[in-house]
Amino acid sequence: MLAFKRAALGDWDMYYVRLGWSGVKVSQFCLGTWHLPRLDLVDEFGVRRVDVDAAIKIMKKAYDEGINCIDTANRYHGAMALADLNHVGNSERVVGQFLKTVDRESVIVATKVGGQMAPWPNGEGLSRKHVRWQIKESLRRLGTSYVDLYQIHFPDPNTPKIEVLRTLSWLVEQGLVNYIGLSNHPAHDIVEFMELAEGRGLEAPVSIQELYNIIDRGIEEDKISVARRYGLAILVYSPLAQGVLTGKYVNFNEGKWTIPGGSRATYADYVKRYFTDRNLKLIIELNEMAKSKGVSLTQLALAWLIGMQERLGVTIIPIIGATRMEQLEDNLGSINVKLSQDDFNRIDELTRTGGAK
Ligand SMILES: NC(=O)c1ccc[n+]([C@@H]2O[C@H](COP(=O)([O-])OP(=O)(O)OC[C@H]3O[C@@H](n4cnc5c(N)ncnc54)[C@H](OP(=O)(O)O)[C@@H]3O)[C@@H](O)[C@H]2O)c1
Repeated sequence: MLAFKRAALGDWDMYYVRLGWSGVKVSQFCLGTWHLPRLDLVDEFGVRRVDVDAAIKIMKKAYDEGINCIDTANRYHGAMALADLNHVGNSERVVGQFLKTVDRESVIVATKVGGQMAPWPNGEGLSRKHVRWQIKESLRRLGTSYVDLYQIHFPDPNTPKIEVLRTLSWLVEQGLVNYIGLSNHPAHDIVEFMELAEGRGLEAPVSIQELYNIIDRGIEEDKISVARRYGLAILVYSPLAQGVLTGKYVNFNEGKWTIPGGSRATYADYVKRYFTDRNLKLIIELNEMAKSKGVSLTQLALAWLIGMQERLGVTIIPIIGATRMEQLEDNLGSINVKLSQDDFNRIDELTRTGGAK
């Protein structure tokens, strides 16, 4: 792991890690764009608009603080739980506006393909036809001539893996894409992709993008060891369990779940899947632990992920999301928080017995 202090930036050090087996250096955090700051204004479909100015300010602040990686997807809108076909592509457009404010060569731009972008049969998936179409669309929306990391958003059981790898290798040869990655694939699929790439001399994925946080530890069962074996970086999504691990959804005085105004749970029902008795108990315990260390719960949760790199022997890059500047600052503050062996053991104990599903 490379690490250096950039004194002019802030009170924290930004660390840079290698993107899997490649030589590319990525900041310890990547910035996500699935959910962006929202305006009260609605568009012609009655959907809340993204606050583009606020979003770009957050992106610029993250960049100024040393974050050189931004993650998006062709399907993301930024202000909708799950974007419909009238709203896909919007987050990439906002990222494109941000890229105009910085030197494109200083940024690792990561996007994804595979989700539905049009109603017709080949409007989604990983066929050569769809992927060749979507890379052009993503580049247009992002206003750039190449993507640094092009990720398969989720598996497409209808397209043979060899077709997917050949198509992605061609994109790399054309200079449209630098590296390729997988997301949401079962461990056996990841192994198949890696073996196929090596056996056929095709471009091999450099990373996997997976759900991982103190509550959702499923990838420890199999994908972590696969990533270690093939030298894949793990880009972690929902590192704060969609905000639940900030503690904002818990009324600590009354010991019950609550939904603060403006939060993601007010418009995205999938956050509520976390609202279980076990998770409530876990968050109350973790909050006590954070207080005793003099850090926020958010910082404890992110420091846990960063610390797990050494314990698991893999590179972990949390993709942090923020809809307000203070959130970004809180999250960045975790970079200098170090957990002790006792802290890790205690969290293991809590997630075995308390909150983890
Ligand atoms: N590959 C995939 O399938 C996939 C799936 C999901 C996400 N992703 C990627 O991963 C990124 C991160 O995922 P995520 O947004 O779910 O991450 P997360 O860190 O678990 O949740 C981020 C949200 O939590 C709230 N938050 C963050 N910091 C906070 C703080 N300090 N205090 C209070 N609230 C805070 C904000 O929501 P509110 O303010 O709105 O409440 C923020 O948007 C996405 O942007 C996307 O790029 C990929």
